[in-house]
Amino acid sequence: MDKTDFFVIKALEDGVNVIGLTRGSDTRFHHSEKLDRNEVMIAQFTEHTSAVKVRGKAVIQTSHGEISSDS
Ligand code: TRP
Repeated sequence: MDKTDFFVIKALEDGVNVIGLTRGSDTRFHHSEKLDRNEVMIAQFTEHTSAVKVRGKAVIQTSHGEISSDS
């Protein structure tokens, strides 16, 4: 795992949820961050977080490219 890798999420509407899921055999939500329109979150994958779920309209940038969750 490259812990220096980070991703950017920009909310396109109020109430976008960025949900962190735990690493390891027990996959569960461990954190939910609510973003309002135009708010930006910059985050990394860590020893605690192996997956992220984005709920709502947002643009997500990673080293693999950019994707929007509204199309
Ligand atoms: N305490 C969490 C961690 O170190 C914080 C975190 C990092 C996080 N990346 C995240 C929370 C992505 C939600 C989504 O893993």
